[in-house]
Amino acid sequence: MEKIAINIIDVDGEKYAIDCVLDPALNLMEVVRDAGFPIGNCGGIALCASCHCYIEEERFFNLKSDLEEDMLDQLHDYNDNSRLICQIPLSEKLNGITITLKY
Ligand code: FES
Repeated sequence: MEKIAINIIDVDGEKYAIDCVLDPALNLMEVVRDAGFPIGNCGGIALCASCHCYIEEERFFNLKSDLEEDMLDQLHDYNDNSRLICQIPLSEKLNGITITLKY
């Protein structure tokens, strides 16, 4: 099965790179959580914001649902780069992405 690379910057600035199998049944939060990061408290239904990340790539900015926007609006550190990564399905488009965790 095809793999993709995900770059993660943890809350302390430490950088990690993980390779994950491209399983379209998974979302980005599940892959990062399964790599050992403490996110995903609500199980991926956009209700906890533990998976809040900054993503620099502009192509991900305007893909938020109303549900995701509503949750992000409640965060003090929400900005244009913010995403709830449980709302991002795994796809080849994510290959090489860099996310900054905000939990
Ligand atoms: S895992 Fe709870 S909002 Fe994403």
